[in-house]
Amino acid sequence: MSRLFTPLALRGITARNRIFMSPMCQYSCAADGLATTWHLVHYGGRAAGGAGLVMVEATAVSPEGRISPQDCGIWNDEQTRAFAPITYFIRQQGAVAALQLAHAGRKAATAHPCRGGGPLAAGEGGWQPVAPSPLPFAADYPVPSQLTEAELERIEADFAAAARRARTAGFEVVEVHMAHGYLLHQFLSPLSNRRTDDYGGSPDNRLRFPLRVARAVREAWPAELPVFVRISATDWVEGGWDLPQSLELCRRLRECGIDLVDCSTGGLVPDAVIPAAPGFQVPFAAAVRQQVGIATGAVGLITDAEQAEQIIADGQADAVLLGRELLRSPSWPLQAAKRLGSETAWPEQYLRAR
Ligand code: FNR
Repeated sequence: MSRLFTPLALRGITARNRIFMSPMCQYSCAADGLATTWHLVHYGGRAAGGAGLVMVEATAVSPEGRISPQDCGIWNDEQTRAFAPITYFIRQQGAVAALQLAHAGRKAATAHPCRGGGPLAAGEGGWQPVAPSPLPFAADYPVPSQLTEAELERIEADFAAAARRARTAGFEVVEVHMAHGYLLHQFLSPLSNRRTDDYGGSPDNRLRFPLRVARAVREAWPAELPVFVRISATDWVEGGWDLPQSLELCRRLRECGIDLVDCSTGGLVPDAVIPAAPGFQVPFAAAVRQQVGIATGAVGLITDAEQAEQIIADGQADAVLLGRELLRSPSWPLQAAKRLGSETAWPEQYLRAR
């Protein structure tokens, strides 16, 4: 009996299997953070392809929180309505519809990565990025302005409002993005947070704002539905954010009522040396699961059915998140079921291909 294809219950929802689509920005909004037919076809295709949960890409809680002008947003009602057909279709295909809530902080206002990337000047559609401290991401990035206490309150409220809108749009899970060097990770890491107030310095202070956001989202989200958090478990830099600090963060997240920690790494600084190899981030998911006692998701170079099965069977994680492999093979879960000798429901329209 495949463990990968054993359903996963979290609060009031059950994913039909433990294969989750990892959030991946599509940079495909035509205007103003509005999801388009690209998003419907892209996410719908992975739901039809058998994923247990489909996580829609990093979606900004405010205009200045976007990575690029083409990012999805969920700060107004029109954007909320644009997501509704997407969540409807994902759920109709038997998958759980999830949304990642994000603020890019000092990594905001950049060009589409396939069209050159890098910071956008004001005249090119860019805007002034904000961060815990006035430290740019890289030499060619603008110096972000340091967030004031009033601005922090506003961002916390933006995350809570975004969670409420996500529910209106039909999402069943929200994930708070605390990874990859975006705003909340910038607060956690001593490399990007040099504040001398209550939000910087000691580990407790660096955790303070990300935990406030986690609590605000948890309170805004229905009690019967789960909230995930994505972390970067290490910066891969000496003196930066690391696994022991992540374990403490995850203990506090568990106390806040967070249901699953999705364990990625890196992204805070451009020059970290990352030992990427198949399953290289899985040990972080295993450490958090075993030492904190919270459900985890493992992500990063998981491409093979037997590899994914082993991660779940060994108790290293409760779910695997697949990114690029699902771009290559939208029906990877259906094919993995076949390979592992597991029964899984195929869309009726595809039965002749089974
Ligand atoms: C990503 N990734 C990512 N991560 C995240 O937390 N939010 C996001 O919106 C994005 N966007 C994104 C876009 C694209 C095109 C790629 C390829 C990646 C990271 C992604 O979710 C995943 O963690 C990594 O790709 C590693 O997993 P794979 O691809 O090795 O399975």
